[in-house]
Amino acid sequence: VLILGGRLVDPAQRIDTLRDVRITDVVTEIGEHLEPRPGEEVYDASGCFVAPGFIDMHVHLRVPGEPHKETLETGGTAALRGGFTAVACMPNTKPALDSPENLELLQREMSACCTALPRILPIAAITRERAGKDPCDYAALVERGAVAFSDDGATVADGRVLLDAARKALAMRAPFIVHCESPALAALSNALSESSIVARDVQIIRKSGKAWHFAHLSTRTAVEILRFARAQGVAATAEVTPHHLNFTADSVTLGPAARVNPSLAFETDVRALRDAVRDGTISVFASDHAPHTIEEKYGDKPAPGFTGLEVAIGAYALALPDLSLERFVAMLSCEPARILGIPGGTLAIGTPADITVFNDEPWMVDAAAFASKGKVTPFDGMTLPRKVVATIVGGRILYDARIAA
Ligand code: DOR
Repeated sequence: VLILGGRLVDPAQRIDTLRDVRITDVVTEIGEHLEPRPGEEVYDASGCFVAPGFIDMHVHLRVPGEPHKETLETGGTAALRGGFTAVACMPNTKPALDSPENLELLQREMSACCTALPRILPIAAITRERAGKDPCDYAALVERGAVAFSDDGATVADGRVLLDAARKALAMRAPFIVHCESPALAALSNALSESSIVARDVQIIRKSGKAWHFAHLSTRTAVEILRFARAQGVAATAEVTPHHLNFTADSVTLGPAARVNPSLAFETDVRALRDAVRDGTISVFASDHAPHTIEEKYGDKPAPGFTGLEVAIGAYALALPDLSLERFVAMLSCEPARILGIPGGTLAIGTPADITVFNDEPWMVDAAAFASKGKVTPFDGMTLPRKVVATIVGGRILYDARIAA
C-alpha cells in the first residue's frame, strides 16, 4: 500500500511533516511525492495525520469467561475502530490470567477468532487469583506471552507481598502495572486512597528496582507524589483515562451508572491530571475500556467502568486541545511501546506497518452504534474533535472509516 499525502507524525523519529509512506507488512519507504507502482493500492491520506499504530495499554476484553460483556470479536473490532493496532488486556477475567494454562485459554480464543484483530498483548496477574497473597510464576507467564503484570481492579494491599513479588519479577522486563486504591480508604477519600498507595509504591520501587507503571491516576495528590518521585530519579510512569481527563463526579450525568474505579473526582483533580500530561509526569493515554451490559450498569449495584475504545482519541483531544500533535501521538505509540518493551511505536523503515490515520474532523458519539458490547459512556451524545480514519495492522487496512460510512 502507498499512503499518499498525509502529515506523518512519528515522534520517535522526530518527524512531523508531509510525507508519503510505502508499506508491505513492514514500512519500506518514506519520502516526498512517491509514485505508485503497478498493482500497488493507494490510500489517499491528504488532510489526515499518519502515525505509528496506537497502543492502548489498559483494556478489558473479558476473555476468557465473560462473553456477555465482550468477546474478542466485539472488543477487537472496537479497538480497530478506535484507531488501536494493539491492545494490552487486563487479567481480571474468569479465570484470572494468573497461569500459563489460563493465558492459553485467551490464546486459543485468539487463534479461533474469525474476524481481523489488532495485536493482543496479555497482561498477567501479579498474585494468584488476584487475591493479593501468592506471587505468580512470572518467568512462566512471560514465556507464554505476558507483556506486563497487574492485579488491576484490585490493589495488592499487603506491601510485604508486593515487595516480595517485585523482587521475584525483577529479572523480567515486563513492568508491574498498579491499580492504586487502598481497600481500607477507598470509601473515605479518593485522594487519600490513591495517594497512599502511590507513596507506598514509590518506596517499593526504590527497594526492589522493578519497572513500574501506575494505572489510571485520578487525583491531584497522587500526581504530585509521582512528580516529586520522578524528580528524585524514580523511573515510574503513569497513565490517564478519557473519563478522568474530562469529568468530575459533579459534571457527569449518568447517575449511578457513572460508577467507575477509581471514581471521578473534583475539578482540581481534572486540572492536575491535564497539567501532568502537559509536563510529562503522565506519559500515556489509556482507555481502561471496561465493557459491561446495560443491565449491569443500570442495575441495583452498578458495575464499575465505561466502554472506552471507540471514544478514546476524541476524548483525549477534547481534554487537551493545546497538546502538541507530537506529544499526543507519543502518548499513544512510542511511550506505551517503550514501557511494555514491545515492537512498534514508530514507523522507522523495517518496522511492522502498524499505522493509525486520523484527522481533526468533529463527530458525534452514538454509543448504541459501537462495535463493543459495552454501550455506557459519559461521552454519549457529545461531539469530539478528533476522529479515526483508518487502522492498518501489519500492512493490512483493517478499518477504513470511508468504507464503513
Ligand atoms: O471501573 C473499573 N472497571 N475499574 C477497574 O479497575 C476494573 C474495571 C472492570 O474490569 O470493569
